[in-house]
Amino acid sequence: MKKGFFISFEGGEGTGKSTQVRLLANKLAEQGNLVHITREPGGTELSEKIRDILKTTSNIDSITEMLMMFAARREHFIKSICPLLDQGYIVLCDRFYDSSLVYQGILKNVSIEKIMQLKEMTLGNFEPDFTIILDIPSSVAKKRIQGRQLYWDDYDMMSESEYNIIRNGFRKIAEVFPFRCKLIDASGDERKVFFKVQKAVEKFMSETRR
Ligand code: TMP
Repeated sequence: MKKGFFISFEGGEGTGKSTQVRLLANKLAEQGNLVHITREPGGTELSEKIRDILKTTSNIDSITEMLMMFAARREHFIKSICPLLDQGYIVLCDRFYDSSLVYQGILKNVSIEKIMQLKEMTLGNFEPDFTIILDIPSSVAKKRIQGRQLYWDDYDMMSESEYNIIRNGFRKIAEVFPFRCKLIDASGDERKVFFKVQKAVEKFMSETRR
């Protein structure tokens, strides 16, 4: 029986997801919660191996890539996420299936219907309890990721227009799933952004625990 919460963080490259996940984990742990940080693709031995293959292989066919993302996700879900939620952990996940909708679906034109079928097959009716979507203009993202070692060949080469497709894709997700998603302007400094993240999570938790 699930007792914990699953909170996913989404957004394009350079939006500061990992920093915000870390800041939130520290805050929630300070408040006495059991907290686990994880990421996708990744989070188990096999899923991290799939991540390594994805990051060291270029020109992967988009359907193959989607299948690999969901293979990694299924393993992560069954072996790690579900047991932790059963034990009462708050699981903070850097990316989840919304990233497949945006990157494989919207950016690479894999059918959304097929992605949702795969999602159902691998996750059943599981949904994140709450999703924070970090949003910044591509010009700000570009500055942030300049000089950072990006190893995802395809994404390393991403043009401004592709970045905008991804950004708009996540904004669309926030519109389609307003009950679980909170879109946050992440263009300020990390402390200012964290203030908004913390407020949103507190609101979600107080509503859920009521
Ligand atoms: P990250 O280190 O920023 O999380 O990088 C992971 C990359 O993988 C990122 O460019 C987005 C991409 N990705 C997908 O294309 N589909 C997915 O389902 C996930 C989780 C990530």
